[in-house]
Amino acid sequence: MSKHCVLVSGGAGYIGSHTAVELIEAGYDVVIADNLSNSDLRAVEGVRQITGVDVPFVEIDCCDRERLASELFERYTFDSVIHFAAFKAVGESVQKPLEYYRNNLTSLMNIIELMRRYGRHNILFSSSCTVYGEPDKQPVTELTPRKPATSPYGNTKTMCEDILRDSVAAYGDLRGIALRYFNPIGAHPSALIGELPRGVPQNLVPYITQTAAGIRECLSVFGNDYPTPDGSNIRDYIDVVDLARAHVVAIARLIEGKNKENYEIFNVGTGNGVSVLELVRRFEEANSLKLNYKIADRRAGDIVAIWADPTRANEELGWHATRNLDDTLRSAWAWEKRVRGIEE
Ligand code: UFG
Repeated sequence: MSKHCVLVSGGAGYIGSHTAVELIEAGYDVVIADNLSNSDLRAVEGVRQITGVDVPFVEIDCCDRERLASELFERYTFDSVIHFAAFKAVGESVQKPLEYYRNNLTSLMNIIELMRRYGRHNILFSSSCTVYGEPDKQPVTELTPRKPATSPYGNTKTMCEDILRDSVAAYGDLRGIALRYFNPIGAHPSALIGELPRGVPQNLVPYITQTAAGIRECLSVFGNDYPTPDGSNIRDYIDVVDLARAHVVAIARLIEGKNKENYEIFNVGTGNGVSVLELVRRFEEANSLKLNYKIADRRAGDIVAIWADPTRANEELGWHATRNLDDTLRSAWAWEKRVRGIEE
């Protein structure tokens, strides 16, 4: 029997490339589609090198529906799609809201429309814990109410979840899962793929590793006067390989028809809240180095704290975060060193 094929849109990106590796290692065929607007062919090469599989790659913009039709849906027989392709910078989305709405909503709608046209069935959508806003209670479960998003980027995640939910309700043969990611960090243990931010990193861990590499002078810790034990923000940092594996079990659930509803939502986090200052300390200890950092003003739009209750994913998907934070922080530093050519 031929293997089940999965289309990974945005598969040259950070989470997409790690997911492509885990899918292939779990026995799936994979097609990667990406417009390389914020990603790099080196990630596709990394996926090929790790897996030893010459994964097909199609350079394509998911907003271009007819090219998607002719170059992907007509050529490949995937029955499942994992849709990562999206813009993801919170700050930039405030400056360019229309680009964010157009890109993130259109690409998902195109994929769903073509899945219907070509009779394809299963879709996973990359959502985010950003849909919970500033939660009233921790940890957040999937039943924690969503709150109005604080950025156009966050709003696209909420809106895309609704587009998927309503499409699944209307079109009987479509099944969908939204995975709400917490804060993915780290890199593949091979150090052949990892996060490759363009320009100045916006996220904490790439900023930390670039500071350790001497590319940035000093990490700014955005605020130490929050109502948390050490005054810095709390997040749920999830290893990117663990996160990638959550996609593999979630897509298998749809393929095998084990889903309980045709549209389901899962939090993908560890269940542990870690503060920014704690993360810095753990990075220093795990990698035996000192990081240059200072306390700076709060960053606009940051929520105080959020971490996951991953019980539903644990019980329904049989998925658990397995890598410990120190290993993850070592993998992040190993990747940065490899990218920069830094010797041990
Ligand atoms: N931080 C710093 N200094 C930096 C960068 C970040 O102190 O240079 C702090 C932030 O203030 C925050 C924490 O590190 O407290 C994590 O910040 P990130 O930017 O890495 O992550 P966020 O939690 O802000 O954002 C992430 C994803 C978004 C998603 C959001 C949901 O990047 O895509 O979680 O809460 F929408």
